Amino acid sequence: MKEKLSPLIRKHLIDVSPYQPGKPVEEVKRELKLDDVIKLASNENLLGVSKKALKALRKYLKEANYYPDDSCFYLKKKLAKIHDVKEDEIILGNGSVELLYYLVFTFADESVSIAYNKGAFAMYPIVSKISNAQIIEVPLKKGNLACDPIAILKKIKENTRIIFLSNPNNPTGTSFTHDEAEELLKNVKENTLVVFDEAYTHFVESENFPDSFSLYRRYKNLIILRTLSKAYGLAGLRIGYLIARPEIINSLNKVKVPFNVNRLVQIAALHALDDDEFVEKTKKLIKKEKRYLYKEFEKLNLFYLKSDTNFIFVKFKMKAKEIFEKLLKRGIITRPLPESLFPNALRITIGRRKENKKLISALNEILKE
Ligand SMILES: Cc1ncc(COP(=O)(O)O)c(C=O)c1O
Repeated sequence: MKEKLSPLIRKHLIDVSPYQPGKPVEEVKRELKLDDVIKLASNENLLGVSKKALKALRKYLKEANYYPDDSCFYLKKKLAKIHDVKEDEIILGNGSVELLYYLVFTFADESVSIAYNKGAFAMYPIVSKISNAQIIEVPLKKGNLACDPIAILKKIKENTRIIFLSNPNNPTGTSFTHDEAEELLKNVKENTLVVFDEAYTHFVESENFPDSFSLYRRYKNLIILRTLSKAYGLAGLRIGYLIARPEIINSLNKVKVPFNVNRLVQIAALHALDDDEFVEKTKKLIKKEKRYLYKEFEKLNLFYLKSDTNFIFVKFKMKAKEIFEKLLKRGIITRPLPESLFPNALRITIGRRKENKKLISALNEILKE
């Protein structure tokens, strides 16, 4: 059903379909009257929040009456050290999605085009439409359904201002290679900004994954986007960051919302970035459970894509929506994907063994029906 809109809305916003988040646990418990619900829908970290971050959060909670440090001074200092860049090459966001908005607000309007792969991260069409830019949609790579820099290279135009690439790609979990990244950067004009959105970088297992920071040093128009929502377990507090040349950062700062990165998440992030033990534990869990799930999917005769992320793209022989509903009734929330693109696939977050076992046992039941 089409929602009722104000007649005053800017015309180009009429076709924007708002982002559909994964169903919250509380909603499913309430609606289906279930006590025990697990969420494998939003690629969150099921090990929780880093212990170091939690401890610091408890200590600084009472300072929530003060505005945050708008410049994120200490966080920039820490990130600059981690990535061997300068503080003025960093901007932080209320989640990395906020920075996607800043990119289009700053660099795009109806006179330019934005290119991305159809079936890449769902936010790219949304922010591109909001900016009113012309849109160039290019298919994902055949076979592994990764983003395809070479195919994009062939389709971009004189006026292409931004290229969004999700690597590894959400929702397929697959990646393009260093050579492909370099081929794009070598051939694209300097006035086309190339965004490598690397939300899942900690989980990458592919051998030829781009060394984006070595490319960044050589290509002025490369922008790297990272998040602390996944490996660091801070999705609920919202924090991400973007690395680019200072003139790009200064330009993005013109549209930055004041105090966009709240006081508590700045504290949490500072400590989480120091918590190597938590990140290692997370990476180890994902690697192990990924293999467990691969094996179980094979036993169930299900097609899946080998993942460089903390989720798996799984294909069914029937409409994925049906499987999604049946899993939901059993208290398991997964993520259905746009029907026009992936009618038979679900995106399933990798949990701990207990969540994964519950998923597999439910799938066993459902597929026998
Ligand atoms: C490819 C990609 N980019 C960005 C994000 C956004 O992350 P954040 O929580 O930092 O807004 C996600 C989240 O799922 C993602 O999959």
